[in-house]
Amino acid sequence: MTKTNVILLFGGNSTEHEISILSARNIARAIDSQLFNIIPIGIDQHGTWYLKTQTELDSEKHVLPNDHIISLSPGAHEHKIIRQKTQKSIGRVDVAFPIVHGTNGEDGSLQGLLKILDIPCVGPGVIGSALCIDKEVAKRLLNEAQIPNAPFLSYLKSERNQIKFEFALEKLGMPMYVKPPNLGSSVGISKVTTKHEFEAAIDLAFRYDQKVLIEQNISGREIECAIIGNHDISASKVGEVITMTENHSFYSYEAKYLDAQGSKTRIPADINSDVQKNIQNIAIKTYKTLCCKGMARVDVFVSPDNKIWVNEVNTLPGFTNISMYPKLWEASGIPYTELITKLIHLALEQASIERMNDTQLK
Ligand SMILES: Nc1ncnc2c1ncn2[C@@H]1O[C@H](COP(=O)(O)OP(=O)(O)O)[C@@H](O)[C@H]1O
Ligand SMILES: [Mg+2]
Repeated sequence: MTKTNVILLFGGNSTEHEISILSARNIARAIDSQLFNIIPIGIDQHGTWYLKTQTELDSEKHVLPNDHIISLSPGAHEHKIIRQKTQKSIGRVDVAFPIVHGTNGEDGSLQGLLKILDIPCVGPGVIGSALCIDKEVAKRLLNEAQIPNAPFLSYLKSERNQIKFEFALEKLGMPMYVKPPNLGSSVGISKVTTKHEFEAAIDLAFRYDQKVLIEQNISGREIECAIIGNHDISASKVGEVITMTENHSFYSYEAKYLDAQGSKTRIPADINSDVQKNIQNIAIKTYKTLCCKGMARVDVFVSPDNKIWVNEVNTLPGFTNISMYPKLWEASGIPYTELITKLIHLALEQASIERMNDTQLK
């Protein structure tokens, strides 16, 4: 049987560069080698693509330069990906598993590039990725679908002088969350309680983004639900993120990555089964509303009265040993290796549907 050739794309220029490498290493280790060949491609922090060996993937903390810079060839059938130096093709590529978080990886750009190359891609395509990366656009669509999410205000950078603390306070109450809507890893996010903190938080958010999102605080548990599927969509059992509130006022960058004791996860969450069912239904509705395909992790807040508020959707969640997405599926009866096989098959299924549509248009 011919094996499916999978390019595993990792690294990239986000704050999650190292996490991405850990995820890629795990995927390469766990993938079913009877079915798939892995071709590792590392993207360094400047955006250059390198063909990597398994040893490089296993040993490098950051994607380091080597002699095998890659060029891409849109429109080519067999030789889409070539080594720049020798102009030789790396061989047939059947599917891509991009595990590149944040800007250029998770926002639709990489998905668009792969689409132009006619390479099927694990996870949501251009539209789903782009809608989920922009929390403000996502929230407007959630509102239209009547999916509860934190009330908010948003402003463009050019509207800086229209942002008034008193107005935001009256609309949203205290505390408020101020965010750059297109980022992840809690970078640039502040929880504010005073006018002084509010102004500083707005300026900080504008250092990272052209827009700012100001949200009402939702007090409650932070619950995450893993979703899989293209048209036949399933939700996993839910998990919980518990932040050590003695040291961190929310699930901040420090609590996520710097402080080993900053937070912990509980998988599955200790939660009433009706509430879990409700979260799963809302997560699937959210996934559909935001045009997701393949997979996503939907993060919600559950307030003490068991009301569910969608916080955000991650379209390329982590795949490290301790990452929530694969752990939730494991807890729901799908082991890691089988999960990877399913995700790749979904990518191939989705691409064949899209190719069929494309040929009908010709
Ligand atoms: N409206 C909100 N109410 C309560 N907590 C919030 C709110 N928005 C964000 N947070 C806290 O900030 C963390 C990071 O915010 P989030 O929007 O998930 O950004 P990121 O994409 O960087 O993970 C959340 O996990 C939560 O702890
Ligand atoms: Mg988050």
